[in-house]
Amino acid sequence: MHCLILYYSMTGQAEKAAGLAADAARAAGWDVTCCRMAMSDPADVLARPMNVAASKKWTQGAQKGMTVPLTYDPPDAINGRYDAVLLFSNTWGDHPSVPMRSFLESPAAKAVLSGTPFGAYIVCRRLWQKNLDIVRQLGEAAGGCFLGGEPFMHPGGQIGSLIQTITYLYRTDGGRRRFAGFPLPRYGLSDEAVARVAPFTRNLLARVSQA
Ligand SMILES: Cc1cc2nc3c(=O)[nH]c(=O)nc-3n(C[C@H](O)[C@H](O)[C@H](O)COP(=O)(O)O)c2cc1C
Repeated sequence: MHCLILYYSMTGQAEKAAGLAADAARAAGWDVTCCRMAMSDPADVLARPMNVAASKKWTQGAQKGMTVPLTYDPPDAINGRYDAVLLFSNTWGDHPSVPMRSFLESPAAKAVLSGTPFGAYIVCRRLWQKNLDIVRQLGEAAGGCFLGGEPFMHPGGQIGSLIQTITYLYRTDGGRRRFAGFPLPRYGLSDEAVARVAPFTRNLLARVSQA
């Protein structure tokens, strides 16, 4: 059995979750191909420190269904046939990130997902439900068979994770410790989310193996 793990990652969170899923899949006896997506136009590449114009462009772009040309690393990973596809979808503006939507609406998605079970890992600071709903809808429209999806979130409440994430994106260091005198949660996936990647992966893949 062979699975494709497909992700885009600006700040390393989806990449971290994808790596943990790959380890869990291999431990369950699966062959694994990991594929990283990126914007193919260098002018579109997101990097810290972001500025207001860039965060507005990409947040609103995600909300409006914007798509961009992508590259895949390794390039031929996207041309294979797989027994399962695991998608790591970062949330931008409460929607799937622009790269994830760009993939899901591309001919490449039809080729790789057609008739193939797929699972969704929603990587975000907090807002996940709409992202998951759209990934499911677009994946099924591309011919995929939805296996399940779960959120993998940052620590802290709505306000703390929002302040931490916004300020993190506008800086280059490890993130603020405090804001206006109040302690902030750290940036990145929570320990609870990290611990859940392997069991969720085993569960998804077991359903494919047993089918
Ligand atoms: C442009 C942009 C918009 C974002 N909008 C949201 C949002 O609306 N809700 C949310 O929970 N997280 C939002 N985030 C935070 C990311 O989903 C979160 O930091 C995620 O862990 C990033 O994954 P990555 O490191 O793999 O890129 C946004 C991040 C970026 C860069």
